[in-house]
Amino acid sequence: MEVKAFYWKGDALELLDQRELPEKEVWLRLKDYREVAQAIRDMAVRGAPAIGCVAAYGFVLGVRSGEDPEKVYETLKNTRPTAYNLFWALDRMKKVFEEGKDIEAEARAIEEEDYQANKRMGEIGQSLIPHGARVLTHCNTGALATAGWGTALGVIRSAHYAGKNIFVWVDETRPYLQGSRLTAWELLRENIPHSIITDSTAGFLMKRGMVDCVIVGADRITKDYYVANKIGTYALSVLAKAHGIPFYVVAPKSTFDRGYTTEDSIVIEERSEREVKFIKGIPVAPENSPALHLAFDITPPENITAIITEEGIIKL
Ligand code: MRU
Repeated sequence: MEVKAFYWKGDALELLDQRELPEKEVWLRLKDYREVAQAIRDMAVRGAPAIGCVAAYGFVLGVRSGEDPEKVYETLKNTRPTAYNLFWALDRMKKVFEEGKDIEAEARAIEEEDYQANKRMGEIGQSLIPHGARVLTHCNTGALATAGWGTALGVIRSAHYAGKNIFVWVDETRPYLQGSRLTAWELLRENIPHSIITDSTAGFLMKRGMVDCVIVGADRITKDYYVANKIGTYALSVLAKAHGIPFYVVAPKSTFDRGYTTEDSIVIEERSEREVKFIKGIPVAPENSPALHLAFDITPPENITAIITEEGIIKL
């Protein structure tokens, strides 16, 4: 059964705590916008479209509590710097508030539109997936990362339900393990055939002819189609190009940066080295070795075969 990452309850936001998956299904009940900001920062909820939806509900909670709307907006905005959907959703909420319109209805609309966009991208994208394809994906771009269905994982879902008999290689996705913890969990629930691989296995599988296409999501896409996504995406794109394998990006229009952001001006989130040096509290590195933890990288358009949106396919 398809999962949901969050539910709006009118006076609270219920969030599936993704830090606890796959071992435990723990639901958080958030009533304060500052708790919502903390949940985004700590990655209890993650994935660009889901972050946007949750921030919109956080804005509703904050404004209703009587807090200064500008402060609510800034607090939610300053949680994670790369995912464009966060800024897109908050700007939309702020505008509706300033126009004196219904902010709860707007947050609900953002959620519903994202779900519909995912279903549409699934339909459009699955037409590119051959019968029996072995698809490699990175990070988690499924129902957990969106309002439901998913972007790249949504295309995989749609191809599976179209009876295409596909198989999924799931990149583990160090260090937060969105692939092995979250994507594998979603695929297992729906009996979609898959195998988890360590991130460094991808190249050799391509060399052996065991990957037919790569499908990933996006956190931000610039006007000239540079794609910021989970660290490791760029390396996969280089490998796919070297092996002549199609490389697809799947993202709704809400991920497309409407400003003049260039490849160099995208802010790449740098997270705590603790997330690299410990797995679930267990040390996997010497305590005194420093670690660099960049959460995202940027893939240039020349490495991308096509970008799939709810409005159609952009061939690059
Ligand atoms: O750090 P995360 O888990 O929020 O990163 C998620 C990704 O990189 C996804 O690929 C992207 O947000 C698209 S999710 C539909």
